[in-house]
Formats: sequence, structure tokens, C-alpha cells
Amino acid sequence: MTNGPMQLEGRVALVTGGATGIGAACVRKLAAAGAQVGINYLDSAEQAASLVQEIEAAGGSAFTLQFDVTSSQAVAEGFRHLKDSCGRLDILVNNAGIRLDGLAMTMKDEQWREALAVNLDGVFYCCRNAIALMRKAGGAIVNVASVAAFAGSAGQANYSAAKGGVVSLTRSLALEYGPRNIRINCVVPGLIDTLMTKTLSPELRADFESRIPLGRFGSPEEVASCVLFLAGNDSTYVTGACLHVNGGGYPA
Ligand code: NAI
Repeated sequence: MTNGPMQLEGRVALVTGGATGIGAACVRKLAAAGAQVGINYLDSAEQAASLVQEIEAAGGSAFTLQFDVTSSQAVAEGFRHLKDSCGRLDILVNNAGIRLDGLAMTMKDEQWREALAVNLDGVFYCCRNAIALMRKAGGAIVNVASVAAFAGSAGQANYSAAKGGVVSLTRSLALEYGPRNIRINCVVPGLIDTLMTKTLSPELRADFESRIPLGRFGSPEEVASCVLFLAGNDSTYVTGACLHVNGGGYPA
């Protein structure tokens, strides 16, 4: 186990929601570090396929894996397929997520349920299946939480509750599976430039930026660097931890 540039050679990784944004940046970093990377997607088939092409053109190895993280059955089938084709799983990045914003008083049941289903149920289903594949040789799971889990977020009661659940789930799983050398950690992004934040008005964006000590939104690559750290050989004594990637926004 070396910490060199190809530190993940021979390892298999899976990134959920890996075709876009932070997930795609994680796929690129893991592949550049030598891992064979599965790109899970829901409906971004074209983007997933073109990411595979890009990685192969750069000399890396990647493949696509379609499933909906909210379906226990679909997740189980996806992982079965992964086991049949790769024989192992060393790294899982639970990145798939959605925002369905609204004030709590008028929030519809479906809006609440769907946010919990993708952002929390999906993480649990994928962790459960990944742990089964990692239980003999160990592994690393990185869950993508959010600053909303710690700071709360007006208009995002569903999203922040789900992400808070991800943090607690991470800590519990770290206790349960530390003895099997499966490390489970969170990255906790602040505001990052992706599709998810593209719809913010220029005024709101400027207001947010004025409250971030580093004065700007982060990039998907800056989150992916932290994911790579938690997934790789430089963090072998880190588990149950939250790594905040927020430009100093919260907590300071
Ligand atoms: P994004 O919208 O580009 O990525 C989310 C991905 O999840 C998409 O590819 C989407 O298709 C996929 N996805 C959604 N539902 C799915 C399902 N049921 N099954 C499989 N895949 C599904 O946005 P971004 O920003 O890259 O988000 C990635 C993660 O980072 C999310 O978990 C998000 O909550 C988190 N995050 C993002 C922040 C930001 O400022 N952009 C801040 C804090 C956390």
C-alpha cells in the first residue's frame, strides 16, 4: 500500500450519482489514482458514457452502472452486477443527492419522502450492500453530507434532516465496521459550483459569498480531493469523521 500517484491501482470504486457535478469530479480523481471506477447514474446515461470515454482516453478504467438509489431492490441488483463483473469493491462514494426545497408548513408529504429517500435511504442501501462486499478485505466508504446537516437551512428541512441522518449513520457504521477495517467517513461540502447551486439568483449568491471567509463557492474538484483523501491510503487511521469543505463558512 503506497501513497503514490497510482495509490489505488487494483482497487474497484463506485460513485453514486457519478455522472455530474461533485460525483463526476470524484470519478475523475479516483480513476486518475488508478482505481477502476463504476459510475452509477439514474437518468444521465449520455453523461455517464462520455465520462467513461474521457477516462479511458486518459488511460484509466471506468464503467457505468444504472440504478435508482431509492430502490432497495435496484441497489441490491446493481451491487450483484458489480460483484459478478469486478469480483470486489474497495471504495464507495455515496454522492447521489437531490434538493426539493420548500417551507416546512407547506411541504408536501412526497417532497419530504423523496428528499429522505434519495439523500438518506439511498446511502443506507448502498452502505449495506457495500459492507457485504467489503467485509473480508476491508474498504472505505465516503458519504457526501452537507453543511445543512450542521447549520440547518431554512427552506430545506427535508434536505437538512436527511443529511443530518447521513452524519449519524456514518458514525454508527464506523463503530459497527471498524473491526472489519471498513472505514466510513463524511465529506461535508459548503456551497459548491454545480447544477445544484446554478439556480441561485446573483443577489443570493453574492450574499452567500460575502459570508464565506474564502470569499467564493468551492469547485467540485476541491470536494473530490477530500473524498480521495478519505478513500485512499493517506487516511488509514480516520473513521467516523466529518471533513468540512466549505471555505471556512461553517463551522469556522
Ligand atoms: P448534481 O445534481 O450534479 O449531482 C447529484 C447527482 O445525483 C446527479 O447526477 C443525479 O442524477 C444523481 N441522483 C439523484 N437522484 C438519484 C437517484 N435516485 N439514484 C441515483 N442517482 C441519483 O449536484 P452536486 O452538487 O454534484 O451534488 C452531489 C452531492 O453533493 C449531493 O449529495 C449533494 O446533496 C451534495 N452537496 C452539494 C452541495 C453544493 O453546493 N452543490 C453542497 C453540499 C452538499
